[in-house]
This record gives sequence, C-alpha cells and structure tokens, in this order.
Amino acid sequence: MTDQNSEHFLKNWHPNIWPPFTQIKTSNPQLEVSHAKDAIIYTKNSNQELIDGISSWWVTLHGHSNEYIAKEIAKQAQELEQIIFADFLHPQAKKLSERLSKITNLDRLFFSDNGSTAVEVALKIAYQWWQNKNDKRNQIIAFEGAYHGDTFGAMSVGERNIFNESFESLMFPVQRVQWPSTWIDDDQVYNKEAIALKELENLLQIPTAAVILEPLIQGAGGMNMVRPEFIKKVANLVKQYDSLLIADEVLTGFGRTGSLFAFQKAEIDPDLIAISKGLTGGFLPMGVTLAKEEVFKKFISNSPLKTFWHGHSFTANPLGCAAANASLDLLENEPDKYLKFECRHLEQINKIKKLSHVEKIRICGTISAFELKVEKNSGYFNDIGKKIKALSIEKGLFIRPLGNVIYLLPPLCITEKQLERSYDIIYQILLDIN
Ligand SMILES: Cc1ncc(COP(=O)(O)O)c(C=O)c1O
Repeated sequence: MTDQNSEHFLKNWHPNIWPPFTQIKTSNPQLEVSHAKDAIIYTKNSNQELIDGISSWWVTLHGHSNEYIAKEIAKQAQELEQIIFADFLHPQAKKLSERLSKITNLDRLFFSDNGSTAVEVALKIAYQWWQNKNDKRNQIIAFEGAYHGDTFGAMSVGERNIFNESFESLMFPVQRVQWPSTWIDDDQVYNKEAIALKELENLLQIPTAAVILEPLIQGAGGMNMVRPEFIKKVANLVKQYDSLLIADEVLTGFGRTGSLFAFQKAEIDPDLIAISKGLTGGFLPMGVTLAKEEVFKKFISNSPLKTFWHGHSFTANPLGCAAANASLDLLENEPDKYLKFECRHLEQINKIKKLSHVEKIRICGTISAFELKVEKNSGYFNDIGKKIKALSIEKGLFIRPLGNVIYLLPPLCITEKQLERSYDIIYQILLDIN
C-alpha cells in the first residue's frame, strides 16, 4: 500500500521497475528510448534526438549500436553463447586474455560481471594474497572522494557519504589519503600533492595489504583529476613500503584518459587492475581483474585454504568476450580517436572558460569538466546539476552533472559538429542561468 502523496509521484514511473541510483520522488521519470546510433539517442514518445554526452554512464566507447561489434556478437551467439568457465575454455576468452595480458603486462585475467565485481575481486585477491604468504595484513588504504562501486567491498573503499551511510556499520575500516585534485592554472597543486604523499607515507608505516586508487581521474567523486606525476609518486611509495597497488581503471581504461590505460600514462606498474565499462565497447556487462603472475602464484597449492574461491555464473561469457575482442580491434585500428581527443575538448572549452561563474576547468583525454561557482552545498546534491540536466535535454544534449560539476565524456565517434553543439548547448544554458 502507498499513501496518496507517493502515488502521485509513482504514476509517472513504470510500475514494475526500480530504477538505479534514483529517488523517484525528486527525479524526472526515465525517458523512453527507441534506439540509439553512434553518438545519438532517439527517444520514443517525443521523437527527440539527444547527443549522448556521457556515453551512457561512461560505457559506450565507440558509439551506440556499432555495426562491427554487433556483428561479432551475433556471430558468436550462433556458435557458443555461454559455457561454465570453471570447466571449459573457449576461443574468445583465450584471445581476449592473451591480448589484454600483452597490452597491460599483467599475466592473469579473472573474469566477472561489472566494475564493482572487478574491484571486489581485486580487493579479495590482495587481502588473501598476504594470508597465503603467511603475512596477514588488515590495513587497506584508499583516497578521499573515491568511488569503486556498490558491492560491500567496493563500497567500503569508496568515500563514506550519504549514498552508503545506511551500511556504515557493515563496512570494513579503510584508511584515507587526500586526493590532490587539480585544474588548469591551479597554483596550489604541489602543496596539495606533498600533503597527500606525506599522509600516505605515514599510513604505510603499518604493513598494508593494498592501496587502491582511480588512476588520474576520480569519476563519480566529481571528475577530479590529478597529475600523472602524483600517481607515479604514490606508486613508488607503495612499492617502497612493500604493499600491493590496485588500479581501478573501470572508468579510465580503454582510451578514456588519452592513452589506452591511465596507468600507462602515469608510467606505473600496478599489481592488480580492475576494468569494465568500455571493455566490451559498452555492449555487454563484463568485468576483469588483471593480476601479476607473482600474485597468482601464491594461490597455487594443495591446500583448499589457498584457493581463490570466487566465481560468477557468467564468468567470461563468450558474447562479452567477443564484444571485447571486437572493441579492441577498433581501438587498435584507430588509436587517434582517443590519442587526439584532448585537443578537441581544448578547442571547444574556450568560450566556457571566459564565464565568470565557471571555475576549475580540467581536461584529460576524452573527459572535460568544470565547476559552477555556488554559494553553498558544493557537491553532488547541489540542485543546479538537475536543472542543467533538464535544460540540456530540452535542447538536445544528454548530460548528468555531478551536482555543480558539469562534464562531458562522449563516445569516441562523436562528430566535430556534435561536440561543438554539445558545448554550445552548455554555454547557452550557463548564460541563461547566470
Ligand atoms: C572507478 C569506478 N570503479 C567502479 C565502478 C563500478 O562499476 P559498475 O557500475 O559497473 O559496478 C565505477 C562506476 O562508475 C567506477 O567509476
């Protein structure tokens, strides 16, 4: 039973669907989509065309309904759609493992279903690895503002905030280090980095199972970017104090930061990497945790206690692997699409840069972000984001600001005209609301 008041809100929503990350009482109902092609989403009822400015939650890498990936999935579906991976190996998984291992220099791939599980697996591997070495360690270090997913382990290492407050008592303790976010013309960056590095070094005095970070960009935390040099110094400290480094590349992987992986741009050598989102080009849900061979080796034993007892029904699903192999083909064939994306943002952002209520402009690879100056409640719950989202949808652009942080993270296929239009729409809205 629902009361009259809530029914009023409910009538605009589908009666059988519980939407993700949404308070329906304060949100606009989902738009019904009929189809999507390249960078454009076509809605059903209003026949509206929307530029997908955030790659549908950062997953749609090459564009919607990419014909090559769709064909490869269809081909695979007629040969082998699913198989129990504990007992059977299949060609697409072999091919993908060999390719990703070669690209990353990490030998072992553990497959799961999404970004959260890829992180969960990395944390469990790191934690158990020390036990398998008879050196049990409890301390895990993460960064303030981090987001690593919504399962319990991933949630525990993420920033503690309103999103996970209900579960506070069930999460494990994690030590935190400041994240020295930076932007164009930031003259405080070296200070902030020095403070963070000092904090990290202090914490590392206690034997630490793992340090986890989002290399170069904290996404959900507000598109907060750091310099590659900072990430490199973090990695050096982690090595110096003999801990494991987990790079959560769920967002940053597959060209998003302007190199194939962010860890490569930062020139670091993580022990474990979590990937998902763009892995299948955004076509199918899949997560992978990559581990160094020396990590893997400590799980080989006659003792069941040393086994990594983790698995999912759809582990290494052949359709997902086919999509991932096809997506890698596209990335390999046209590297300029991600290598040269940053210049495209730089050209477009100039107009916005001049607005007096805009600050902290930052760009990294395919991602550009800035903040709107607000008097209070800077952050996710600032209502300005919702307002800008609604106005931009009216004008033909789909974005999802993180409160007063406005960002663009488009698919690689976005045309020059579409990108220019996206910036124009945002610029016009910023003028109107000022
Ligand atoms: C850095 C990072 N890690 C993990 C996740 C969780 O991924 P998923 O939503 O696929 O569970 C996300 C999702 O946005 C992310 O940005």
